Amino acid sequence: MSLVSEGGPAVGRPLALGPVRLRNRFVAAPMERNYCELDGTVTDRYTAYLARRARGGAALVFAEAAYVRADGKGRLRQLGADTDARVPGLARLASAVHDGGALLGVELNHGGRTAQSAVSGFQPVAPSPVPCLPAGGEPPREAPAAEVYELAAAYGEAARRCREAGVDVISIHGAHGYLVHQFLSPAFNLRTDEFADPLRFLGLVVEAVREQAGPGVAVGLRLSAHEGFEGGLTAERTFELVSRARLDLLDFLDVSAGSYEAGQWSIQPAEWEPGLLAPYAGRYRELGLPVGVAGRINTAESAEAIVAGGLADFVSLARALHADPDFPRHALAGRGYRPCIACNYCIDRLGSGEPIPCTVNPGAGREHLIPAPAPAGRGAVPDALAKHGAAPVTPAGPGAVLVVGAGPAGLEVARLLAEQGRRVQVLEREEHVGGLVALAGRLRAYPEHRRLLRWWAAELDRLGVSVRTGTTATREELARHEADAIVLATGGTGRLPDVPGVGLPHVLDVRDWLALGQDVPSSCVIWGADREGVAVADHLAAEGAEVLLLGPQPALAPDVGRRAKILMVPRLMENPKVRILLESTVSAIEPDRLLVRSGGQAEWLPAPGPLLVSHGVVPRPGLLADLLADRRPRLGVHVLGDAGDNGGSLHGCFAAAAEVADALARACTRGQALTPDDTPRGGLRPDGSSPERGGPRS
Ligand SMILES: Cc1cc2nc3c(=O)[nH]c(=O)nc-3n(C[C@H](O)[C@H](O)[C@H](O)COP(=O)(O)O)c2cc1C
Ligand code: SF4
Repeated sequence: MSLVSEGGPAVGRPLALGPVRLRNRFVAAPMERNYCELDGTVTDRYTAYLARRARGGAALVFAEAAYVRADGKGRLRQLGADTDARVPGLARLASAVHDGGALLGVELNHGGRTAQSAVSGFQPVAPSPVPCLPAGGEPPREAPAAEVYELAAAYGEAARRCREAGVDVISIHGAHGYLVHQFLSPAFNLRTDEFADPLRFLGLVVEAVREQAGPGVAVGLRLSAHEGFEGGLTAERTFELVSRARLDLLDFLDVSAGSYEAGQWSIQPAEWEPGLLAPYAGRYRELGLPVGVAGRINTAESAEAIVAGGLADFVSLARALHADPDFPRHALAGRGYRPCIACNYCIDRLGSGEPIPCTVNPGAGREHLIPAPAPAGRGAVPDALAKHGAAPVTPAGPGAVLVVGAGPAGLEVARLLAEQGRRVQVLEREEHVGGLVALAGRLRAYPEHRRLLRWWAAELDRLGVSVRTGTTATREELARHEADAIVLATGGTGRLPDVPGVGLPHVLDVRDWLALGQDVPSSCVIWGADREGVAVADHLAAEGAEVLLLGPQPALAPDVGRRAKILMVPRLMENPKVRILLESTVSAIEPDRLLVRSGGQAEWLPAPGPLLVSHGVVPRPGLLADLLADRRPRLGVHVLGDAGDNGGSLHGCFAAAAEVADALARACTRGQALTPDDTPRGGLRPDGSSPERGGPRS
């Protein structure tokens, strides 16, 4: 859908925020990324990442919650604004973002009780000594009143550094459970001195920042519309507090929600509706300042509806721009964009201390590896994944590629190869495309996977890729295609453990069962508490099934991060119709019962209904051996996703597809077979050998 309304799309109109002017209403929201040096200094990675978002059309590009004092640091590679040594790095960011036509914003923050000494090297300091369990639970010390003044002054000093660096917009982080929010909150501010007044600290911070930022820099407040847990700030109380804050010194408000104790409100799961915080933002517009809003705004339509509908003046987008930096530009032009599926892999990786990736955009965080644009026809790209965050690659020569399998790996590699100018044909044995993504899209937790399928369909259509469904890639079928390279993305099959009774008709791999599209059973067993098993259990339980969920895992879905299962896990644990047995396994299966081993004990349990097994997948056998016996395409055979050794997850499929597309681009450019340097993981040379495995593989 294009954003056509009278006078052009509302999100395309400029907006004044105090002394600065936004070219449109798209703001790249603050987002910690672990892209800095360990001391908080800006890196080339960081600069290139933000510059790319600026070139993608956002009007204002925020860096992230930058710590104003060393003991407020919450992530190993978080951006620092704590000493004057950070100014040159911030200036590099400003210059790169300005070159891309956008303004640079920095959010000023102190982690308070959420900071931990393992990261910052200091005991956390907070309004009151209330530990933060989701952040690690280290007891903070209570800041004496004199130190609270120093903390407020530290925000001011950081604002001065931002001004000196050429930053255009400063946002005071008053949301998500950090220090300013802690002083506002009745759950975390238990003081009896002057700072018992929840607005006192915020007032000092606003005054210090306003004074040091100077008249040319816009200053705003990011706030949580409510904290999201019992005993925390309600929406009513938050509004009442903010309306009494020093709004006279502020140029805008940016409405978010949640706290560490209710992180789902800060970074919302896929199953919550897009733009869900907009009604809260609408109320803040009464206060007379421009208001922004964040929260699952990941379609052009939802952004336009919010701004045109008068609920906010601008939209703050974090994940949508991580997934596709061109989202604003493409949304305004009515073009498609790669959708963020709200899987929360990015936020779940933040705690690792490593640069955060993106499931659907392997180029995120690798923009610095793309060399400056080379003259046409020249310039191999040195990093396989980086360029997929960049503009389409210049066609590098002919090459017909046959992709077998239209699951996520197959669809993505087809898209990338077609984008390079290859002639691509996809064969799929099922009547529909999408493989495991299509199955996941049927589950309650993953509705956004369906958008990914729609995006692939539109992209392959735009690129002229032909997809033949209902076609099994037999030897004879393959012989009909004159392909320079073949990509096998045929997926895997569920692994069924070898126990007595596993061959009974009611025992099925969980994916096979989903594919059958059967009605929800009144009761069932799910054996395997991994990501897939837990998601299916959650779905069936929500539909009313009695579920026995058991597996060898020590916790539910240990293969995914906390945020990816933030709704599912408590929902399952609280549902009286769900029985969970962890660190347990099945030793024998009979039609209506199971022999379950748990903690050295074995017990027969009643188990009516289907028994759905979730024990991972193994590559589908057969085709590769046939292919290698029959023919050796000039540019090799490549095995991708679950069919090879690089599937297992959606992000693995995207990354592997990018590697294969890159290797083929190099080979096509030279018009010859792959060299050892070209051959990606899972890729085979025409002689069937693989760089990792040594000899031919069948
Ligand atoms: C990886 C990650 C890091 C984030 N870091 C920050 C941050 O530094 N400061 C902040 O105010 N919000 C942060 N957020 C929250 C986002 O700014 C945004 O409010 C939230 O993700 C919801 O918007 P979205 O649906 O567009 O992602 C972060 C979100 C993610 C996913
Ligand atoms: S990792 Fe997932 S949630 Fe994060 S931006 Fe990418 S698609 Fe969106």
